[in-house]
Amino acid sequence: MIPRPRFHFTALQGWLNDPNGLVYFDGEWHLFYQHNPFGNDWGHMSWGHAISRDLVQWEHLPVALLEQPEYMIFSGSAAVDWGHTSGFGDGARPPLVAAYTAHSPREQTQHIAFSLDRGRTWAPYSGNPVIAIGSREFRDPKLFWHAPSQRWVMACVLADQHRVRFYGSPNLRDWHHLSDFGPAGATAGVWECPDLFPLPIEGEPAQQRWVLKVDEQHFGAQYFIGVFDGERFACDDPPDVVRRVDFGRDFYAAQSWNDAPDGRRIWLAWMSHWDYAARTPTAPWRGMMSAPRELALRRTGDGLLHLTQRPARELHRLRRAHWRIEDSPIGAANDRLRALGARGTALEIGATFACLDGAEFGVKVRAGAAEETVIGYSPAEGRLFVDRSRSGDVSFSPRFDEWHAAPCALRDGTLTLHILVDACSVEGFADDGRAVISDLIFPRPESDGLAIFGEGATRVQSLDVWALA
Ligand code: FRU
Repeated sequence: MIPRPRFHFTALQGWLNDPNGLVYFDGEWHLFYQHNPFGNDWGHMSWGHAISRDLVQWEHLPVALLEQPEYMIFSGSAAVDWGHTSGFGDGARPPLVAAYTAHSPREQTQHIAFSLDRGRTWAPYSGNPVIAIGSREFRDPKLFWHAPSQRWVMACVLADQHRVRFYGSPNLRDWHHLSDFGPAGATAGVWECPDLFPLPIEGEPAQQRWVLKVDEQHFGAQYFIGVFDGERFACDDPPDVVRRVDFGRDFYAAQSWNDAPDGRRIWLAWMSHWDYAARTPTAPWRGMMSAPRELALRRTGDGLLHLTQRPARELHRLRRAHWRIEDSPIGAANDRLRALGARGTALEIGATFACLDGAEFGVKVRAGAAEETVIGYSPAEGRLFVDRSRSGDVSFSPRFDEWHAAPCALRDGTLTLHILVDACSVEGFADDGRAVISDLIFPRPESDGLAIFGEGATRVQSLDVWALA
């Protein structure tokens, strides 16, 4: 029996996929999610709901939007109507407004609903659908207020055309087509779950660029960098450039919070994959969210910009026992780890290695008698990798027993790794959040071993391990 993750969000019971309706309001981080309230398989799609005051501890609330006789409630987003543009409220408290896809066998259309009680109860707008174009592949509205043009913008996908379609509205009820983006980048799988937001460029005060994220079914999330002028998105790259968000298998349908405080841009994603999501060996819940991550853009020496993701600092609150090792050869550091008794099934690891030759090195987590998950680095290939081929139960899908790699350069001959480990996941971050690999694993609960490895001359500059509550 696979225990429930300790610090990753799961539904109390039943199926979960995409995060939906992420919005911060009145001190609460709202997390809605694609949910089957009636079982552990995809179906009866509705919006589950949870809130948090710190992004760490979640309180489960009743289902917010329940499947209807004529349609299921597919993915979408939520925003605060601060300007009372919709007229849904009483003019005093700003309404929360959700946009979602009503999915029927005939058509996918965009609907809205509103809440006047901090997201606890929702009423559908009587004029739904707000957008219908007679398509079966038209979904996943991401809503946001575009201040420069003083209007609402909604990004949806025309999934099988590999297009993101933008709509504008003064009042959240009446929408007009603004423009389309795509096909571009990776187009082997249908496009889903767009998100669009501005991000600051690290170290360049007052500089920002827009990021358009869109998922490619069966292949994962990709992103484009460019400008959005309230009307259209213009990408900086030529149309054939593909930028991956995450090089693991299990980071899909990421969505960022609207109205996060202090101008932060934080997202999380569904940690699973459509190839095997229906078969992952957990019950009475199935599906989990990634850890929340803070986003930024970083410019490299060649002038190019890249998305970076780092675990949200709120996760520091989970830190309990702490073990630290400084400046040591790998073998001695490993002996020291063992002597300290550093182990656990929920861990945060921060490690800086000084790389002195071409030999592979890294960290093994969730190690037991016959299993381990390896997060390693190959200097010869310039790649970060996660090997989950011996991570535990890999039998439920032929697509699970694999390893995944991300291009990753050393910085001044060193590699800094940041790893989050939980009951059934690893998330590895390197190169300051530019190379990220997120993977599910299903080890035995007693496999709590931790080791570092490396055959060559690599040294551990520093290693911090925290047991997480
Ligand atoms: C993405 C997705 C969305 C859709 C939802 C249905 O994982 O396929 O496109 O709205 O899941 O649950």
